[in-house]
Parts: sequence; C-alpha cells; structure tokens
Amino acid sequence: MRIGILGSGLMGGKLGTIFARAGHEVVFSYARSTQKLKRLARKAKGNAQAGTPDEAARGADAVLLAVHWSRVDDVLKQAGNLSGKVIVTCSLPMNADDTGLVIAHTSSGAEELSKKVPRAHVVSAFGTVPSEVLFHVFEAKRRAKRPSLVYCGDDEGAKEVAAELIRDAGFEPVDAGPLRIARYTEPFTLLIAQLAYEGAGGPELAYRFERFAKQVR
Ligand SMILES: NC(=O)c1ccc[n+]([C@@H]2O[C@H](COP(=O)([O-])OP(=O)(O)OC[C@H]3O[C@@H](n4cnc5c(N)ncnc54)[C@H](OP(=O)(O)O)[C@@H]3O)[C@@H](O)[C@H]2O)c1
Repeated sequence: MRIGILGSGLMGGKLGTIFARAGHEVVFSYARSTQKLKRLARKAKGNAQAGTPDEAARGADAVLLAVHWSRVDDVLKQAGNLSGKVIVTCSLPMNADDTGLVIAHTSSGAEELSKKVPRAHVVSAFGTVPSEVLFHVFEAKRRAKRPSLVYCGDDEGAKEVAAELIRDAGFEPVDAGPLRIARYTEPFTLLIAQLAYEGAGGPELAYRFERFAKQVR
C-alpha cells in the first residue's frame, strides 16, 4: 500500500519506518524541518520519501494522522482533499501540556476528527501503545504470541486496511467496534501512559488480551 504519514514525530516517524520496512510505500510529511523528513526516509531503508502533507495524501491508500491535537486543523488543511481516504489516527485529544483529554465521555478525538473530514473513513488505531515499544514489537513479529492492538471505526473497508497495517507492525488486531468506542480506547491510553512512564518497568510496554475457551465442567 501507499501510506502518507501526516506528522513525522515519535509515532509517525517510527510507524512510517515500520510500514516501509514491511514493504509499503511511505511518504513522510509534516515536521518542522524538511531535513528531518528526508533523514527519516533515508533511514527507513525501504520505499520511503519525504514530501508535503498534500503529496503524502495524494494517491495514498491510507494516511496516518500522528500530530498533537492542537495541530490537527493545520495538518488537515495542508493535506487538502481527503474525501474517500482512509485516515488511521493515533492522535489523542490531549490538552496543551498533555495532562488530560479535552474531549471525553460524550465524544472522542476520533469522532471529532471524523466530523472535520466527513467524507473520509476514520479508524482509530495505534494510539493505545507508547512509541517506545513499536520497534520492539515489530522485531518480535515472528513470535507466536503477539501483543494486542485495539482499533475501531465505522467503515469496514477502512478497518480492513487498518488491521493489515496493525498486523504488519507485529500486533494482533482487536476489532473493538464502531468509531464511538474511541471514547473508551482514548482514556485507556492514559492508563497505558501511566504504566509506561510512571511505572517501574520503563515505557517499552504493550498489552495482550486473552480469551479462555468455555469448558464444560
Ligand atoms: N508518543 C507516544 O508514545 C504516543 C502514544 C500514543 C498516542 N500518541 C498521540 O499521537 C500523536 C502524535 O504524538 P507524537 O508523540 O508522535 O508527537 P510528536 O513527536 O510531537 O510529533 C508530532 C509531529 O508534528 C510535527 N509538528 C508539530 N508542530 C508542527 C508545525 N507547526 N509545523 C509542522 N510540523 C509540526 C512535529 O515536528 P518535529 O518533528 O519537527 O517536532 C512532529 O513531526 C499525538 O496526538 C499523541 O497524543 C502519542
């Protein structure tokens, strides 16, 4: 697939690199320095290049939105027409100092994003794990037990695209349902961040849901 990265920081830079190494064509965009985008493209070592948000979105099978909540309007404006596009968002609706959610309970960042681009197909994914774990998960891809990654959205085709990217990154996709479930997944990330950044074990943290088969006693 061709993947446009809108926001090439901790999340976008790493996920773009992983997608390129998994064989996708990647365009890194939206950083404060073009040099940084070019460096990311070079170091990704796959089919990757640097571009503008407009170039990243053009012809893309999916775009990854990975910017601070305060930059969403700006990057969307620069990306141009996203009608019909799959937007995979890991962006959380955090306040300016990243201490709390500015949207919660009755809506979510993913749903508000979807209202901004009503003709695009928004899937919330990748936002529930810290960036620090991404390369580790990708490198451990061949292990039998993969970590889970929840995703949600309203368009089945867009969700299939997201699930493929989740699998390519080394996670087991867990379909959490429609986009409104982001009301639960976004605050869940604050728990993950607490464990990752305030816990004893460090931020290289992923999670795994397990189901147990019903047994007749
Ligand atoms: N980091 C995590 O572990 C994590 C985990 C889950 C969810 N999230 C969410 O994912 C989203 C991205 O987080 P992140 O940690 O990847 O953020 P980040 O490292 O700050 O990356 C944001 C990107 O936006 C670019 N940017 C910011 N202001 C800009 C401007 N004025 N013009 C052009 N580019 C600009 C940054 O440029 P520079 O590269 O020049 O700084 C950077 O490439 C956020 O919504 C966050 O809440 C993050």
